[in-house]
Amino acid sequence: MSNWQELERKYIMNTVKRVPVTLVRGEGARVWDEDGREYLDFVGGWAANSLGHCPPVVTKAVTEQVQTLIQTSHQFYTIPQIRLAELLVHNSCLQKVFFCNSGAEANEGAVKLARRYGQRYLNGAYEVISAIGSFHGRTLGMVAATGQVKHQLPYIPLPVGFINVEYNNVEAIKAATAARTCAVMLEPVQGEGGVNLPDDNYLTMVREWCDQKGILLILDEIQTGVGRMGTLFAYEQYGIEPDIMTLAKGLGSGVAIGAFLAKDRASVFVPGEHGSTFGGNPLACAAAYATLKFILDNDIAGNARKVGQYFIDGLGGLKQKHQFITDVRGRGLLVAMEFNSDVAESLVTACIEKGLLVNRLKPNALRFMPPLIIGNDEVDKALGILEKVLSTIV
Ligand SMILES: Cc1ncc(COP(=O)(O)O)c(C=O)c1O
Repeated sequence: MSNWQELERKYIMNTVKRVPVTLVRGEGARVWDEDGREYLDFVGGWAANSLGHCPPVVTKAVTEQVQTLIQTSHQFYTIPQIRLAELLVHNSCLQKVFFCNSGAEANEGAVKLARRYGQRYLNGAYEVISAIGSFHGRTLGMVAATGQVKHQLPYIPLPVGFINVEYNNVEAIKAATAARTCAVMLEPVQGEGGVNLPDDNYLTMVREWCDQKGILLILDEIQTGVGRMGTLFAYEQYGIEPDIMTLAKGLGSGVAIGAFLAKDRASVFVPGEHGSTFGGNPLACAAAYATLKFILDNDIAGNARKVGQYFIDGLGGLKQKHQFITDVRGRGLLVAMEFNSDVAESLVTACIEKGLLVNRLKPNALRFMPPLIIGNDEVDKALGILEKVLSTIV
């Protein structure tokens, strides 16, 4: 264990089971550790490094902005925030934006907005229906929204106003809907829960139900959005539009920023009802504007779609060779590979030894969420390492 890893144990709270790698530098899809070892990064800052590490357009924008204006009070207009909001609105189905600093904060804001909507238009309805297996963040409210017992149990009692129902089952949502329901909140594809893809008509049926009941549909696109699934937003692939959408992760290509966007009719906050000191400051917005502009101008979502399919096909080839691989699933560059036993941890370690960083999604599954700018050559390299590592499993 390096000196840094010992110091981490001494000074940092014990919230993460880390792998024994201390990263000091990154460029594109590659990172280097303190001993100068190079890795191909298919964890991608947990799906946050959309344009890879230190992308020149983002470092340039941040460098210029950091020398110009970093933070102001929200009492004042700032140009990077307005430009970013305009770009998001022009490229989505939503009309108003609120900026914050993380995914959990974006989801909290979205739920607060839905509750205000409920107070104004739905006789005080406040309850949000979310899905079992979902992940919406680590704040107390979002732990209650997150339908995973392991995240909830340590913190009971949880805030009221959330109900978790089976994912990919519209009847479960219908059964849970009551006069107190103000919104349904879903990830289009569950990321942390296992890269779980819904049936093609699930979101359409949920949308129809929300319309029928006059309640809001919140889509958490924190992991799926900003190109990762092969379109700018995942909802485009399901032929529906949310009333509220949350973003974070890839939006700033690694610079912390979150956002929630709403349709005009759902945008019911009035001054003083919501806020965030750092949210949407000029520095974060300059990074996100540079990221989003690059993604749009260079069809990075299209790249994620094509390269993602190439990767999924390659993983499918490995599945053909190895019976212990039970499933390969995903879209774009959000991909999982599942096994018939709990081999994920040892595979992660073996991949690290061969210079590839991958995520242990579950004891029996790996997840891949590389930067969206990778090409087939990087996929070939990752597949080569995976092939070697998988062939050591008996
Ligand atoms: C779908 C989804 N929502 C919310 C979050 C929480 O985001 P953050 O960690 O930025 O608070 C995550 C993080 O993994 C996520 O995947």
